[in-house]
Amino acid sequence: MKILICENYEHLSEVASNIIEDKITANPKCVLGLATGGTPEGTYQRLIDKYKQGSLDFSSVTTFNLDEYYGLNGRHPQSYAKYMYDKLFKHINIDINNTNIPQGDVDDIKKECKRYEEAILEAGGIDLQLLGIGTNGHIGFNEPNAYLKTKTHLVKLKEETINANSRFFEKKEDVPTRAITMGIKSIFRAKEILLLASGPEKAPIIMELLKGQLSTYVPASILNLHPSVTIVVDKAFIEYLKKQNVELSAI
Ligand code: PGA
Repeated sequence: MKILICENYEHLSEVASNIIEDKITANPKCVLGLATGGTPEGTYQRLIDKYKQGSLDFSSVTTFNLDEYYGLNGRHPQSYAKYMYDKLFKHINIDINNTNIPQGDVDDIKKECKRYEEAILEAGGIDLQLLGIGTNGHIGFNEPNAYLKTKTHLVKLKEETINANSRFFEKKEDVPTRAITMGIKSIFRAKEILLLASGPEKAPIIMELLKGQLSTYVPASILNLHPSVTIVVDKAFIEYLKKQNVELSAI
């Protein structure tokens, strides 16, 4: 597990976008796993900038998003399909047919989960999976629990996740309480993982993750078993460690 420490959010976004750029340059037909939320927004903006400057070509890239709110149509303003379209896809030359997001408003959820899982495999698997992390350690919407599901599935969101995501909605009651998410194995099968965590509120869970212990109550801790993980944090993480009187090398 590699950890990169950046000056601030802008720097973190630059570093993350460079890693993704390198991946696309090395393999223009690569399959990217994408994330939503506040953290990757800066990374997406930089990818758009690189495309506009002519240094990136998305025409052969395929993407799979981690998750989608259950019950939301892809045109709903808070759906992750709309997020991806607005924050990345509509600004670059990606073939929209090569972008994949679980469909949140289907009748047969089990069928949709199976379809999504198979689509990832048919595409040859994910080359690079971008991840955020919840303050409770969730990756995708795999919430802390006594057990973790391996494949794409419907999940009940934890109160802390609903609270955290309510900032994107008019009121908390509008936040869907369920979501479709890739499972732990769907994520874990990615050849490379790039996890971004910015700001002081993410520092405690990153410290927990870096302890190298496995717990289903810290879903991200499974990444300790993955052969190729890069975690990008900003200085807020180091400041947190200082306050705890912990050296990074001691974790
Ligand atoms: P955030 O969400 O980027 O909005 O903090 C991350 C996550 O919940 O995985």
